[in-house]
Amino acid sequence: RKPARFARRLPMQTPLVPVPASDEAGDYLLYEISEQAYTGQLLDDGAGATRLMGYAPVGATPTFTGSLIKVDQHTRVRLRVHNDLPPVHPDFGHAMGTSVHLHGSATLPQYDGYADDVTQPGHYKDYWYPNHQGPRTIWYHDHAVHKTAQNIYSGLVAQYHIQNDWEKANLPQERYDVPLTVHDAIFAKDGSLTHMDRDHSGLYGDVIMVNGVPWPYHEVERRFYRFRILMGTISRSMTLRFVNKRTRRTLPTWVVATDGGLTVPQQVTSWRHASAERYEMMVDLGSCRVGDVVELLNSSNKNNRDFKHTDKVMQLRVTSEPTDTRWNQVVTPPPEELHPIMSVPVEAARRTRDIDLERDDDTNVFLLNETSWEDVQAESWNLFLDERGDPPRPGDVEIWRLENKSGGWFHPIHIHLVDFRIIDRDGGSDRVQPWEKGPKDVVYVGEGEIVEVLVQYSVAPSHYPDGRSTGPAGAGAELGGRFMVHCHNASHEDHDMMGQFVLAAADG
Ligand code: C2O
Ligand code: CU
Repeated sequence: RKPARFARRLPMQTPLVPVPASDEAGDYLLYEISEQAYTGQLLDDGAGATRLMGYAPVGATPTFTGSLIKVDQHTRVRLRVHNDLPPVHPDFGHAMGTSVHLHGSATLPQYDGYADDVTQPGHYKDYWYPNHQGPRTIWYHDHAVHKTAQNIYSGLVAQYHIQNDWEKANLPQERYDVPLTVHDAIFAKDGSLTHMDRDHSGLYGDVIMVNGVPWPYHEVERRFYRFRILMGTISRSMTLRFVNKRTRRTLPTWVVATDGGLTVPQQVTSWRHASAERYEMMVDLGSCRVGDVVELLNSSNKNNRDFKHTDKVMQLRVTSEPTDTRWNQVVTPPPEELHPIMSVPVEAARRTRDIDLERDDDTNVFLLNETSWEDVQAESWNLFLDERGDPPRPGDVEIWRLENKSGGWFHPIHIHLVDFRIIDRDGGSDRVQPWEKGPKDVVYVGEGEIVEVLVQYSVAPSHYPDGRSTGPAGAGAELGGRFMVHCHNASHEDHDMMGQFVLAAADG
């Protein structure tokens, strides 16, 4: 089915409202949400409704990927997630045990959405998040073992923003701060989602959606906007740019934050954007006239499958002069607002770890260092890095060298817990692209490429510097534990391109 393009408005996302609460360790915010199956009108063209899943406040119905959470830095959050899903998925038939991962947060391992730590329908789990990291656009999504692709595809996805005072005063807020969650999808005649991953190589939809609407439009004023763009696709990567339809000129665009938060603004004309990456783009719509239409366009990115209309994402329609002149320019963050990983020198690395990205052509399974998630679970809990004698400790700095030996595929590799800096792409630090210079937790590794990242293991803290607990009252000292590493092409991740590393406890 091919829904009309630029026919429906972009849904704006309103943050969920938490309940203030406290325990012996102090105040926290309680978000109580429910995972539900529902039917939504993604197509709105007379086709049937689409069977979907989503997160919503208890008692409310989900909107597709819309359950935004916005919190201030250093606010303790308890996210209680009720699994109110049916026992099996209505379209795909798999069991609906779920695991919630807050992607981009240095979370204690027991709350990090470990793939095999699933909560069954009819049960709930409390996830505690420290939010000690600086302002950033992160997201939460399902991470259930072998089912992450289907569950993300069905809608178990939402953005999560950590904010601080500098960011609130200086970068666009409110209606000028627009979350965009991009998906692609294949719809069957009856409106249901089709999950076709071509022997696990990937799912490439012919319909592009933003915030759950195919090719939406959004009305904007003639001024600077901030777009928090999350590539929520299962497999597709894009190369994006904003183009004024009248002048055919690319709009002045600055990357102001990457996965891990603020970066020194980089002006770009286009940027490559793979699954799970977040780029915060400041776009100067003040360069347009009222009446102009700006399109967010996708040029073909290698090793994807394109369709007739996958070259367009959405439209911005400039409908008025600015009505509010606050946060009206690109500002360079003062150094203390930039992420510390930016300043860690390469010389601080204690060691280099090699990770080979591979594919077994007989089984169509993808591997990390010849190991699948099945092997990790069956044989040794730290098989992936095979470094049981020398686990990293919180604060350690290392180089990870990712080498793509898999053939004609690209892999957006995600490392849990850490932020990293890309220091070398394909034999040169000068090939690190302007948009990917900031703090990252996903790195695109193209066909045949070798990419090096400088990793600093975060301390997933149980206490803030002032001594308040970040978790439940009575949580122990800093915990070590196991954290996943995987390809975020979720078809690859599920089959079976995922491993784990062990972080030693801070002092033991
Ligand atoms: Cu976005 Cu391991 O996840
Ligand atoms: Cu991959």
